[in-house]
Amino acid sequence: MGFICSFHSSACLYTILFLLVCASWLGPQLALAKHRGITRRYKFEVRMQNVTRLCQTKSIVTINGQFPGPRIIAREGDSLEIKVVNHVKYNVTIHWHGIRQLRSGWADGPAYITQCPIQPGQSYVYKYTIKGQRGTLFWHAHISWLRATLYGPLVILPKRGVPYPFPHPFKEVPIVFGEWWKADTEAVINQAMKTGSAPNLSDAFTINGLPGPLYSCSVKDTFKLKVKPGKTYLLRLVNAALNNELFFSIANHTLTVVEADAIYTKPFKANTILITPGQTTNVLLRAKRHHPNALFLMAARPYATGPATFDNTTTAAILEYAHHDPSRKPKATKLPLIKPKLPFFNDTSFAAKFTNKLRSLANSKFPANVPKKIDRHFFFTVGLGLLPCSKNQNCSGPNNTMVGAAINNISFVQPKTALLQAHFLRQSNGVYTSNFPTKPPTRFNYTGTPPTNIMLNKGTRLMSLPYNTNVELLLQDTSIIGAESHPLHLHGFNFFVVGQGFGNFDSKKDPAKFNLVDPIERNTVGVPSGGWVAIRFRADNPGVWFMHCHLEVHTSWGLKMAWIVQDGKKKHQKLPPPPADLPKC
Ligand code: C2O
Ligand code: CU
Repeated sequence: MGFICSFHSSACLYTILFLLVCASWLGPQLALAKHRGITRRYKFEVRMQNVTRLCQTKSIVTINGQFPGPRIIAREGDSLEIKVVNHVKYNVTIHWHGIRQLRSGWADGPAYITQCPIQPGQSYVYKYTIKGQRGTLFWHAHISWLRATLYGPLVILPKRGVPYPFPHPFKEVPIVFGEWWKADTEAVINQAMKTGSAPNLSDAFTINGLPGPLYSCSVKDTFKLKVKPGKTYLLRLVNAALNNELFFSIANHTLTVVEADAIYTKPFKANTILITPGQTTNVLLRAKRHHPNALFLMAARPYATGPATFDNTTTAAILEYAHHDPSRKPKATKLPLIKPKLPFFNDTSFAAKFTNKLRSLANSKFPANVPKKIDRHFFFTVGLGLLPCSKNQNCSGPNNTMVGAAINNISFVQPKTALLQAHFLRQSNGVYTSNFPTKPPTRFNYTGTPPTNIMLNKGTRLMSLPYNTNVELLLQDTSIIGAESHPLHLHGFNFFVVGQGFGNFDSKKDPAKFNLVDPIERNTVGVPSGGWVAIRFRADNPGVWFMHCHLEVHTSWGLKMAWIVQDGKKKHQKLPPPPADLPKC
């Protein structure tokens, strides 16, 4: 028992009791804890809570009544035990987005992929250890559209005594972007899937749950960041929005990017940050040396490339300078409010320039272990298409069809039971097949004029990889129905983004340009609108790993698949059996 109890914001009776019990042997363990990591326990009670935004009150699904949800803090090397108790009428699962879950796939969280949902009245303890990661990640519900309100930051500090590879900030502040919907998001997606039409749009974006002053009724619902002149702040940006990539900028301030998806980057300066759903970015904000006698707006609005309409609104928070001498403080309302300039909503060339600047540190302390010898090459198209509707539906597409989305023309069908269980128990029959195509069924001009037949196939097909396979995966956007940027997220791994470009990937010319020296390492990458991206990873984590577009509407339409990574020969290369409390379907 090499752990001590830790205390956290959502301290409940359960924790206190536990603290009392273990306080007796806390003393001698402290010395050990420095080196070995501790176990941090959280209790997540899923319950409904009334929340008012945009002048309307609605009942939303929350953790412990908080919106956004509680912050999880741990250090690299720590273990987490998070007990999730479901008190709502919906099935729930929670995903720890970006956590590698080394040999702990049972705690990953995507519903029907690694676990059956936690049913109303049931609970499940997610147990995992954070190995070799530090930085900002987040957690969110991973079933239907519940993550609209069930999300929160997950902060991994370096091991005790280990500094950041950048100036130590005076303060650290999570900045979590979300979407706010006046409607019930479960009703929105259910309705869309029934009628085959596109789901309605969100009504606002939020910063730390607050829409900000550019929305009606929302001046009081504005996040304020108070800074001291001359100090440096670490902003932990998280895009937890459902369906929108976002540009973010602070008026008259330059940001320094130092980390993405819990991987340190070579620092670079930027006035505007692009962050897709599923991505996290740490930036340093250096406050001006002298009090500027102004307020500064920090604003975010969509980067949107697809054929559909989008929520074209802007969320904002306020950056305010504290006065050394409060008596000299002018009335805040008198100060001019300076607004940032954000790129045009479809500025794809900005997106490409920004993502090209992201580079791994790639030094001796934080090496970029890019797979050099590739065992398997895959070419996956990602994009939209048409799906047939059932006879009792009356869908708006031609011949009773609806818009769907797919990888290699396969629109993924969610199974009725969890894939990881079926895989572990060798009961794949009737649940999934392991024949996911390595390339699209037909070759066509992916980013040119689409073929006449744009019907998609359905299936629960997986790709199986032997342990330690080095994978190179080409993700190619298609222009079917419309080219669009797709933020692809891979569970269980980080990957290296070795190349990207516009148009169709050219297997003769493009690989020569790959960056194998200091490519950015991350868990979510935007497949460029009308372009391609090449990623590499080593399949060194046994389990079943979901890969999907992090635009929730595309996931609902089927832009998802899963990888099986088989056990290795050695004991520490095998997936342990499921925990006893793993929910049943
Ligand atoms: Cu953040 Cu599979 O998700
Ligand atoms: Cu997508």
